[in-house]
Amino acid sequence: MHITVVAAIPALLESSLAHSMMQRAQDRGLLQVELVDLRDYGIGNYRRIDDYQYGGGSGMVMMCEPLAACIESLQSEREYDEIIFMTPDGTRYDQAMANELSLRSNLMLIAGHYKGIDERIRETYITREISIGDYVLSGGELPAAVVIDSIGRLLPGVLNDETSALSDSFQDGLLAPPVYTRPEVWNGHKVPPVLLSGHDAKIEAWRQQKAEERTRVRRPDLLD
Ligand code: ADE
Repeated sequence: MHITVVAAIPALLESSLAHSMMQRAQDRGLLQVELVDLRDYGIGNYRRIDDYQYGGGSGMVMMCEPLAACIESLQSEREYDEIIFMTPDGTRYDQAMANELSLRSNLMLIAGHYKGIDERIRETYITREISIGDYVLSGGELPAAVVIDSIGRLLPGVLNDETSALSDSFQDGLLAPPVYTRPEVWNGHKVPPVLLSGHDAKIEAWRQQKAEERTRVRRPDLLD
């Protein structure tokens, strides 16, 4: 899978791509991430990418020309399945959307800054708008990193234990059950005996029950 990120501050994504699973995904050739600096398409000596908003009001708006030039240049090199704008007024991101996007071959993510991007760019090029939650960040770079991480770990061959993405929270509509590791007794607290029983069916039934309990208590909305 190839993901191109267009950003005002691409460096904000670098460290999240250079470690752990995302590094492994790229090393194995399963994920290719291209970071594009929107300022390379900026206007004039100062490589301007933003301007005041018509009608007044605080906050700058990312201009049409640099974004259009950047998107069209990228489109001339590759056919994108989706051009996605990261924005707090987009559709709320969830595991189902991560699963869906992980099946695409070429994605472009646009990380906005300031007050947002000119509406005409949204109307002309954007196929989907994603919010990672009901709060406002100072730019779309961290949301883009979140989307890349959640997609990247779903690509076949990225996780060592092929089944482990399937037992993640949300993957079956439930939160994940509690997990334990050594020692068997820590500070007087014991690991639930069923997990030491070696009885696979009983362990599976226990995990299912705990996942349901936890979901009912913490996220009853997921059971609706
Ligand atoms: N840009 C700023 N805040 C955001 C959010 N919550 N989701 C996606 N992009 C954003």
